[in-house]
Amino acid sequence: MNVHKFVLPEIIFGNYTLSQIGDCCLRLGASNVLIVSDEGIAEAGWLDKVVENCKEAGLKYTTFTDITVNPKDYEVEKGREIYLENHCDAVIGVGGGSTIDAAKAIALLSTNEGHIRDYEGVDKIKHPLPPQIMVPTTAGSGSEVSQFSIILNSEERKKMTIISKSLIPDIAIVDPETLVTKSTQLTISTGIDVLTHGIESYISLAATPLTDVHAKNAISLVGQYLRSSVASKYNKEAKTHMAMASLQAGIAFSNAILGAVHAMSHAVGGRYPVLHGDINSILLPHVMEFNLLANPEKFADIAYLLGLKDPNISKMEAGKIAIKLVNELIEDIGAPQKLSELEVKDSEITEMSYTALHDACMLTNPRDVTIDDIEQLFRKAW
Ligand SMILES: [Fe+2]
Repeated sequence: MNVHKFVLPEIIFGNYTLSQIGDCCLRLGASNVLIVSDEGIAEAGWLDKVVENCKEAGLKYTTFTDITVNPKDYEVEKGREIYLENHCDAVIGVGGGSTIDAAKAIALLSTNEGHIRDYEGVDKIKHPLPPQIMVPTTAGSGSEVSQFSIILNSEERKKMTIISKSLIPDIAIVDPETLVTKSTQLTISTGIDVLTHGIESYISLAATPLTDVHAKNAISLVGQYLRSSVASKYNKEAKTHMAMASLQAGIAFSNAILGAVHAMSHAVGGRYPVLHGDINSILLPHVMEFNLLANPEKFADIAYLLGLKDPNISKMEAGKIAIKLVNELIEDIGAPQKLSELEVKDSEITEMSYTALHDACMLTNPRDVTIDDIEQLFRKAW
């Protein structure tokens, strides 16, 4: 029997759970926290709520909000300086995937010397990290439960995938209330990211029964609630289900890793300042088509999870319907469908393909991938 490893942080899920953050810090022995966030979250008022709560718990705190979409190496290095200057002993991340990835990278650098580039790849971290508490506000990245941090190498214009169990936060506080301030564009983009996490982790070479259960539920919830979540920011039922979908997809992919969509998406995102979920939306149907041959059974499951009812068709046919249903969802919510819409230059395809081939996420793609396959997939997605 294969060895199954499965890791998770403590998870606190529910409306208004953000108010527990001070107690969580105290429970982990923190007394002086670095709160990493971004300007959008500060404007939406969530940062103030966290600060207020930390003050009530008697904690010292420093805020750091200079994090941008697709967080950069120099941003997390600046965060380390601030952490060390202020003698902090824990890291809180409040925001979307970029902010949480950055908060985790700052925690990494606070106890490990060198450049963030030194930690690219799997299991490169040498020293334990300080306590990390993460509060996702986008229902998308799953970074609050994952062993991933994706940071941009600004010199090489390349996203670095850092994977280590040390990056799994101690506590994830998932409060669906925070989703009401999210824009429609972000709801679309992060929602497709959740679907991609669910699908890629379900068909991953490293999937196990422990990850499948979470991946399947995430796919099913996205199929049922992403449309209504996009339609209204005040639909609390849809928001709560999407927050759960994001969480479960995060649990699945943290343990089963991902595949070619994410490997290719990281290559594009390293060069263009576009939303990660938008790139996934464009690539996902094409990569599904390519991967179908590797696991028709699981592709058929995806079709049933997304609403297929007919039990009397072959697995390959059902798998093709899964791709059709994903395309329909992307179309219905108005997510991007062509790389040319993002103004990506086709002269960069070869270099991006090479970068994607060497991304850590490619290792668990269910079908063997060559450089030619990737180039072809990029061209199909044009
Ligand atoms: Fe993702």
